[in-house]
Amino acid sequence: MRTQVGIVGAGPAGLMLSLLLQREGISSVVLESRSRAYVEQRVRAGLLEQWARDLLIEIGAGERLQREGLVHDGIRLSCGGALHHIDFRRLVGRIVTIYDQKEVVKDLIALLLDRGGQILFEAEATALDGLGGSSSVIAFRHGGETRALACDVVAGCDGFHGISRPAIPDGVLTVYERGYPFGWLGILSESPPASDELIYAYHERGFALFSMRAPSLSRLYLQCDPDEDPARWPDARIFDELRARLGGSCALAEGRVLQKSVTPMRSVVVEPMQHGRLFLAGDSAHIQPPTGAKGMNLAFADVVFLSRALALHYRHGRTDALDAYSRTCLDRVWKAQRFSWFMTQLLHRFPDETAFDRRRQLADIAYLAGSVAASTALAENYSGLPLE
Ligand code: APR
Ligand code: PHB
Repeated sequence: MRTQVGIVGAGPAGLMLSLLLQREGISSVVLESRSRAYVEQRVRAGLLEQWARDLLIEIGAGERLQREGLVHDGIRLSCGGALHHIDFRRLVGRIVTIYDQKEVVKDLIALLLDRGGQILFEAEATALDGLGGSSSVIAFRHGGETRALACDVVAGCDGFHGISRPAIPDGVLTVYERGYPFGWLGILSESPPASDELIYAYHERGFALFSMRAPSLSRLYLQCDPDEDPARWPDARIFDELRARLGGSCALAEGRVLQKSVTPMRSVVVEPMQHGRLFLAGDSAHIQPPTGAKGMNLAFADVVFLSRALALHYRHGRTDALDAYSRTCLDRVWKAQRFSWFMTQLLHRFPDETAFDRRRQLADIAYLAGSVAASTALAENYSGLPLE
């Protein structure tokens, strides 16, 4: 098999890249180790920045998004029994959309296959060769056989646990990393959302997030120990804790818990995001705590930059944008990392915190709630910095 761009991974990054390249007349093949059913059912955060929503519509994958996506003008911060509204539309003229990541993935797969794109499911990439030479080969296992995909360029869109990043020789990458001493217990509940917009709740018992998927489906998160066992959280305990952390600022409806799991939190960035013919994009190069809802949006930004650079390369023989790929992405990645860290440290309890830290957090929230300048900065970052 031969193609121009070999893409490892059919998450948001790999699928969007393949569609963007197709539009530029550049061929690609997506290799995905899991089945189609698996990637279409994976539960993940689902918040689209304004420009990411626009991109999905522009590429032709926005029909269901525009029908079923929940448009939010802003978010609410709950603290000390009060709810503070940060109105993105008023402050920066932008909105965000809640649309489950698995729905995005379903729409992208359907569109790509409909347009004649090539995705091989249950095709696990096992080795990347020739990254420093004139062409590359991705070895993969498919249908019990070992096969090879020859390509000009490899796009490593295989997430944080993929093979692309580890294929880069030792000593080439610098890894910037920060752990957090907590995780999130994520809950999907058959209950109407507590509010028409997301509520980020600061409370002495720990952080809570009240999100949603549909008018009768809530997505809820509770700060917990990073190695917390979800089995220790029967439904009644979950709702008691959510109610306590919401602090009476609005009513919470109870419902059947459909799913619960614990996600640990980490911030990681690797530099550079390129080595020879390999370009990393999305979670393979960076992950961030979900507090800023940046994961899928950053993955899309990376592949927009990569597709533009590849188009310049194939159309005009230019290599400047490809050479600048890592720098271009990292500029945005670090701003998103900063924001995700800011939201995380603002709203969570830390085991080693002091009374000073708590008072500072409260002052920070009061400042955000009361200052147009501070809330504009939050609105600008949350709804997505412009791509250019
Ligand atoms: N061969 C083929 N596919 C692989 C391999 C491999 N060796 N290793 C991993 N994959 C696949 C995974 O099964 C997954 O479907 O790569 C895909 C990577 O997709 P994501 O993890 O969704 O990563 P990305 O596309 O960068 O999207 C980032 O996803 O992790 C969330 O919250 C994160 O929203 C963010 C977004
Ligand atoms: C979600 O709805 O899953 C969600 C929303 C916002 C976040 C994180 C997760 O910051």
